[in-house]
Amino acid sequence: TAKLPSWPYSRYIAHRGGGRLAPENTLAAMRVGAEHGFTMFEYDVKLSSDHVLVLMHDDDVDRTSNGKGPAASKTFAELAQLDFGSWHSAAYAGEPLPTFAAVARYTVANGIASNVEIKPCPGREAETGRAVALAARQLWQGAAEPPLLSSFAEEALQAALEAAPELPRALLVEKVPADWRERLVKYDCVALNINQKDATRELIDAVHAAGYRIAAWTVNDPERARLLLDWGIDGIFTDELAAIRPAA
Ligand code: G3P
Ligand code: MG
Repeated sequence: TAKLPSWPYSRYIAHRGGGRLAPENTLAAMRVGAEHGFTMFEYDVKLSSDHVLVLMHDDDVDRTSNGKGPAASKTFAELAQLDFGSWHSAAYAGEPLPTFAAVARYTVANGIASNVEIKPCPGREAETGRAVALAARQLWQGAAEPPLLSSFAEEALQAALEAAPELPRALLVEKVPADWRERLVKYDCVALNINQKDATRELIDAVHAAGYRIAAWTVNDPERARLLLDWGIDGIFTDELAAIRPAA
């Protein structure tokens, strides 16, 4: 069996910061994640039109803010005017879109590890991968553990590898490709991050035997979480922070 890469991360990862309990990808979400005992967060990062890295999942701002249209066509100043909390609940009205830098400072200062998912606007894959990697190198200087960079966009992973090879990477896949080993080698990854539907004991064992870590998104059923953890999975991303959380 191959030696496994270092994995200084919790097996419980709060998806988009606060799961369902707070507006995703905001500092308010991070506080909720921390209050629930999570020591690792996943969040999505992309570029504004004027090259500011911000936390956002979708291409468009419509679902998670009171604005409309593609994030890629808005400056950071325009994005900063929007309310990214009211869509979730009145308690979060006025919650701003955070910059990647602000979230990095918050997590590092609070001893929280990060899985930074590079979520490029269409056509900006390499540019975003490079920008995230270079920013992460600066922002995590002296931190206890490096951020794990991941992406579905292989061009973004390639750019991250070239810009900051020392930062650990994970290949994110919608479906497990037959050639997952070759792809992990190509982007010099430490982990394969899969859809939890594809998780089997055999796959977890095979990924470990090949010398890689494996994590699964998004696990919202506590029984399924227990099963995957019993099988030895290295991480589960969850939206259900109250039901699926690290032991106190
Ligand atoms: O990084 C794991 C997971 O967040 C990937 O899917 O669409 O929730 O960003 P998505
Ligand atoms: Mg994500």
